[in-house]
Amino acid sequence: MTKYLGILLLLLAVSHGYKILGLFPHPAISHYQFFQPIFRGLADAGHEVTIVSHFPDKSPPAHYRDIVMHSSNTLMNSVDLNWFIKQQSFYSHFSEFFLLYQWGIDHCNATLKSKAIQTLLRDKHKEKYDVIITEQFNSDCMMGLAHALSPGTPVIALSSCAIMPWYYDRYAVPMNPSYNPVVFFGQNEDMNFLERLGNWITYHAFNAMYKYYSTPAADALIRYKFGHDMPSTADLGKETSLLFVNQHYSLSGARALSPQVIELGGIHIQKAKTLDVELQRYLDSADNGVVYISWGSMIRAETLPYEKREGILRAIRRLKQKVIWKFENATLTNKPENLLISKWLPQREILCHPNVKAFMTHGGLMGTSEAAYCGVPTVVTPIYGDQFLNANAMKYREMGVILKFDDINENSVFRALRTVLEKRYQDNAKNVSFSYRHRPKQALETAIWWTEYIAKTEGGSLLKSKATHMSAFEFYCLDIYLFWVVLALGLFLLAKLLVKKMFARVPKKVKSH
Ligand SMILES: *[C@@H]1O[C@H](CO)[C@@H](O)[C@H](O)[C@H]1NC(C)=O
Ligand SMILES: *[C@@H]1O[C@H](CO)[C@@H](O)[C@H](O)[C@H]1NC(C)=O
Ligand SMILES: *[C@@H]1O[C@H](CO)[C@@H](O)[C@H](O)[C@H]1NC(C)=O
Repeated sequence: MTKYLGILLLLLAVSHGYKILGLFPHPAISHYQFFQPIFRGLADAGHEVTIVSHFPDKSPPAHYRDIVMHSSNTLMNSVDLNWFIKQQSFYSHFSEFFLLYQWGIDHCNATLKSKAIQTLLRDKHKEKYDVIITEQFNSDCMMGLAHALSPGTPVIALSSCAIMPWYYDRYAVPMNPSYNPVVFFGQNEDMNFLERLGNWITYHAFNAMYKYYSTPAADALIRYKFGHDMPSTADLGKETSLLFVNQHYSLSGARALSPQVIELGGIHIQKAKTLDVELQRYLDSADNGVVYISWGSMIRAETLPYEKREGILRAIRRLKQKVIWKFENATLTNKPENLLISKWLPQREILCHPNVKAFMTHGGLMGTSEAAYCGVPTVVTPIYGDQFLNANAMKYREMGVILKFDDINENSVFRALRTVLEKRYQDNAKNVSFSYRHRPKQALETAIWWTEYIAKTEGGSLLKSKATHMSAFEFYCLDIYLFWVVLALGLFLLAKLLVKKMFARVPKKVKSH
């Protein structure tokens, strides 16, 4: 009897789970694709999940509640490709910063005014959350909101790309720009002097710009809404318990992290679904392999200039491989024999088909992660944001080449594809794939484990490094260096004085003789 009661109590405890709140005001679906599997996983594990976002789940599991933000613009899709192409110069990443900064303000403003947030604030005394999960990208606005909703509740942050330059310090990650490429500057581990200089400048400049522009802007909006005794979002940011980041060392590079930073790259990659019969047959029968082309929804067929499209088609005609191109139009004039076009394609299933030998991509992190997972070499044409970083990560591992948008023509496309079809590139991609897949725990399990750990320990304070709260002066030992410099200078002056005194005496002796 007591045994059954025990089991019953255990079941009750398990089905109760923790109460988890997600806050996602940034209206970019590509970011949300990294977050959503985590929430679905938490709900499946028996936790009660509530999410404020622009992207409600179409078939939510049990314990999963969406609070939808109705905003007029889901920005990312309305961005004009040509704007980014024209902007590409040495300074373009500075204009990107100000674009992100403005989005940060607009989304913070809109979120704080939204009905969704009014609902949460109204119920804040009824609902007690164990963990709050939010994005850390271009603003710390949500750290303020989390504090206003439920002060003291541990926060886990998510980054759908590499860590933004302004967030290393708060997790005590030793950020050395000599080999850690900064997301905006878009290099890889192997930098020459000028590249390291640019990387260094970008890291420090962006850090300072975030402090002087973004933080005060978020503080002003938060204090306007919740009162002037609200702490600064920068201080609240330092209290973040964990950072889940969409990267994995096998693709983005081995570097020192801290126990607060958990790599979950590839978490969005689900079990393979069955392909439709025709596509399966097309792939299976490709004895010379398949090249897959998709630039996501960013570069649409009709925005690709005529000469570039024709150049690609002519290059395809010269290949002995079959080609599949994600293409919006149903028909295409001059379509080569060996090309299949389709508006919608199951990318993950195609890339993992053993006959697929190359992937032409714009370098979005979702696609490059899938290429790493499936072991397919890439030809990357980065356009904006972290795509340069992702492209360079592929290049450094020699599982990809970069083809600049401006350079697209028949010969460059043909040459790039021929290169990545070589055995060396195929082997490197297979090796990256092995490490990408072989982890002590799969990404989703890892995310659930750590979320439960943070809930159980009410914030995981033992993970927190002293370094988070040190000034840069102390952290980099500048005070110690200063001490040595002063000491050395003092000794030098003392020695000089002594020498002077000695010489002052010598001539006197000489004279006295
Ligand atoms: C916030 O939005 C309102 C309109 O809803 C606008 O009047 C105000 O200027 C915005 N504030 C900021 C800081 O952008
Ligand atoms: C694609 O379709 C649009 C409209 O349906 C048309 O204007 C455009 O020319 C087509 N592009 C190509 C490459 O066929
Ligand atoms: C891939 O890994 C294997 C060991 O598993 C190694 O022998 C081989 O040299 C690696 N290939 C490349 C191209 O790095």
